[in-house]
Amino acid sequence: MNDVVLTPGAGPVDAAEAPRRVAYNDKVVLQFSIATIVWGIVGMAVGLFIAAQLYWPTLGEGIPWLSYGRLRPLHTNAVIFAFGGSALMATSLHVVQRTCGARVISDKLASFVFWGWQAVIVSAAITLPLGITQSKEYAELEWPIDLLITVVWVAYAVLFFGTIVKRQGRHIYVANWFYGSFIIAIALLHIVNNVALPASMTKSYIVYTGAVDAMVQWWYGHNAVGFFLTAGFLGMMYYYVPKQAGRPVYSYRLSIVHFWALIAVYMWAGPHHLQYTALPDWAQSLGMVFSLILLAPSWGGALNGILTLSGVWYKLRTDPILKFLIVAISFYMIATFEGPMMSIKTVNSLSHYTDWTVGHVHAGALGWVAMISVGAIYAMLPKLVGAQQMYSTKWIDVHFWMHTLGVVFYIVAMWIAGVMQGLMWRATNPDGTLTYSFIEALNATYPYYLVRFAGGALVLSGMLLMALNAWKTWATAKSPAAGAALAANAPA
Ligand code: HEM
Ligand code: HEM
Repeated sequence: MNDVVLTPGAGPVDAAEAPRRVAYNDKVVLQFSIATIVWGIVGMAVGLFIAAQLYWPTLGEGIPWLSYGRLRPLHTNAVIFAFGGSALMATSLHVVQRTCGARVISDKLASFVFWGWQAVIVSAAITLPLGITQSKEYAELEWPIDLLITVVWVAYAVLFFGTIVKRQGRHIYVANWFYGSFIIAIALLHIVNNVALPASMTKSYIVYTGAVDAMVQWWYGHNAVGFFLTAGFLGMMYYYVPKQAGRPVYSYRLSIVHFWALIAVYMWAGPHHLQYTALPDWAQSLGMVFSLILLAPSWGGALNGILTLSGVWYKLRTDPILKFLIVAISFYMIATFEGPMMSIKTVNSLSHYTDWTVGHVHAGALGWVAMISVGAIYAMLPKLVGAQQMYSTKWIDVHFWMHTLGVVFYIVAMWIAGVMQGLMWRATNPDGTLTYSFIEALNATYPYYLVRFAGGALVLSGMLLMALNAWKTWATAKSPAAGAALAANAPA
């Protein structure tokens, strides 16, 4: 129900100050929140399985749909589009209704967006293990599913922007700007990158060829990072951090500069994925320069999120949800420092093809994306099911430590493995021959794959604890006696 609106230039204020009370559609928000937890577990379990395959290569041998090449895209699609996508849809629809003081324009459309997105996910989960793929990273799904995505996405855009049109007051809170840019940019990227000629229901040919295909693909790939894995989650940051901290955003002016700087720069950085390839040299340098510039808005925005805690830092001692949100931003800073460094051509000549890239990816994906999503879900879930708070705050704290340690194990192992691989591959003897064979470098990497597996197992176990906590919260809210007891124990 109506609990918060955000005034221009400030942070969350009480519902009592809202011009008009509104009954929000929280059903769709709850549905997407549950989907976030479920798909998070599924996607990370597949991630853990492929991490195990890299250590025990015979795992799943002889079963085509368990082969690494098919499960890897299943992992990336499940965690990015099913887990991340559901988190973005849950929070964007939660935030847009509250900050606009308006119910979504249509409950039927909301329901269509939820079930349509689940249909996309299930189709991906069936076709990818069967080996049906366009062979474009993060755009593997074949054309019939691409068409379904387009329809669902347009419906989502109508739902989101329609709610903004219905808003009370003129101001559009900054979180909605980030969510809005994510929705528009993904529509553009998806359509342009997937233009293909169908040959059958399960096979199509992309219209671009050669270097142009690579360029379009990484314009898409990089902006999928910039808008799917970044802009939408920054929208989350701008709502849930001030709300959870009970403080206004540190600088509203900076948040607007942050928004325009980020969306102006991201679109040009894609060629950093194609250093030392057939792409024209000037395009590679352009990608590098724009990536370096990107450091400024990324850190400016991140600091705006972290400094929102000014004056209430002590809350970090007792509020594990806030810990999730703030540590997420710290991982975002790590990933957005590392990324510009890796885009420098000489650094990229070492990092490319190595596990360093995988470490960078998961600093962003597991550290930033997963942690801010988990924090946001913990923050809003109790109210959605009619509870005062999550069933166990202690469990949230345990989850926080499991996740944080898991991510640190994962990324540190991959950094060390990656730099080591890069150095071993390029080492030469005085006579010009290679010092190490490929197998020697692989052998040296082995222990780090085990550490990554352990880190992943910790993260996945934390997600299972979250599911249990969510289930107990729901069950407790439904039982009146337990609900009253929980309310009596709630902190003032
Ligand atoms: C339990 C947690 C996770 C584990 C164990 C895990 C494991 C893995 C493994 C083993 C790979 C393949 C690396 C390779 O081919 O060398 C991978 C790739 C990838 N994962 Fe995860 N992952 C996890 C969570 C996530 C999450 C939450 C996200 C995103 C939100 C994510 C996004 C990706 C991406 C984008 C790639 C492709 C990286 C590239 O192409 O460089 N992962 N993951
Ligand atoms: C200022 C921001 C960032 C810059 C400039 C940047 C730059 C880079 C660079 C140079 C690479 C390696 C390309 C290669 O050698 O193949 C890379 C890979 C990647 N980055 Fe970032 N990064 C940034 C932030 C992030 C964040 C926040 C995330 C995740 C949330 C992320 C996800 C990825 C992914 C998924 C890949 C692997 C793509 C692939 O090869 O499959 N990046 N990034």
